[in-house]
Amino acid sequence: MRMRMTAPRAVAALGLGLVLTLTGCGANSSGGTAPASSAPSGGVKVGVILPETDTSARWEGFDKPMLDKAMRAAGLDPDIQNAQGDEQKFSTLADGMISSGVKVLVIASISSDGGSAVAAKAKAQGIPVIDYDRLNLGGTSDYYVSFDNEQVGALQGQGLAQALTGKQGAQVIQIEGAPTDNNATLFYNGQQSVLKPMYDSGQLKLVANQPIDKWDNQVGGTTFEQLLTGNGGKVDGVVAANDGLAGAIVTVLTKYGLNGQVAVTGQDATADGLQAILRGDQYMTVFKPIQEEADATAKLAAALSKGDTATADATATQTVDDPKGNRQVKSVLLTPQLITKDNVKVVTDAGYVKASEICVQTTQAACDTAGIK
Ligand code: BGC
Repeated sequence: MRMRMTAPRAVAALGLGLVLTLTGCGANSSGGTAPASSAPSGGVKVGVILPETDTSARWEGFDKPMLDKAMRAAGLDPDIQNAQGDEQKFSTLADGMISSGVKVLVIASISSDGGSAVAAKAKAQGIPVIDYDRLNLGGTSDYYVSFDNEQVGALQGQGLAQALTGKQGAQVIQIEGAPTDNNATLFYNGQQSVLKPMYDSGQLKLVANQPIDKWDNQVGGTTFEQLLTGNGGKVDGVVAANDGLAGAIVTVLTKYGLNGQVAVTGQDATADGLQAILRGDQYMTVFKPIQEEADATAKLAAALSKGDTATADATATQTVDDPKGNRQVKSVLLTPQLITKDNVKVVTDAGYVKASEICVQTTQAACDTAGIK
């Protein structure tokens, strides 16, 4: 597909490449459930550190309230903080939690190195650590709770392949997550399990593959725009590693009049992502029921806070490989689900997002067709 540009726009885009205004992406507007309560539950103190707010709507919109609720229900008193993408802050928050006497530390780290350093400090104080969602490569955490992240990537690859069926030689740009997040590697590996054979056979053509530092949505958009203009404005499919990046990419596609004609993937089933799917601007997302992730984490943390490793081991019956630390980490790995326009209702039926968050003026007709209300 070739982008349509008016002449002055074309000149500006080709000359400057990087300059664009991104609106409505990055910090997504969606929210999950009710805000976290700050009332002390009188339970055992547990520290939770989330990595960022701007890379995905999930952390503050879903993980925080869901972890809070699940942990309180398990008799714990959670202190849930967000490091806002700042490694120093991540480390300082951990120090504060360790010295305040948390019995378990749950970390979704910004990078494996930062997370591993925190895990080592906690271990030195005898505090068990759970890696939440992101595994710290080379770390020492006792347990890991996440989704099957290679499967997440495979679903993205399958979604893209499905959207490009019959388009021989369709051109693909891949915009990936942060190189310091092991999940981004797993997503990529999963995508490649589907896409590489298609590139090798010539069914699809890979234009470029670009990881985005810190999952920065805005940088994802500008990087995509450069790659698009560098390819003469041609693209048929975009692997966007999550809905935040997809939103930034759709903004660029819209600027060039290409939105709705290019298949874009996503992940996290955010309200913004689901709206884009219903509008036809994004092809798919991956629904990861974070409630299950929160529940499993709360169960593990409750057991570990009592030193009950037998129950913890009975909960974390899977393992993942940490190739850097050369060890198998006891894990809970949950199942992700592919969402396209045909089954957005799965996400609203699960109560994960409300119909009112996704059925707006531009999507109402699609909501009516899908029976979402
Ligand atoms: C998570 C994704 C999220 C991304 C950016 C990954 O580690 O698994 O759900 O979209 O980080 O925050």
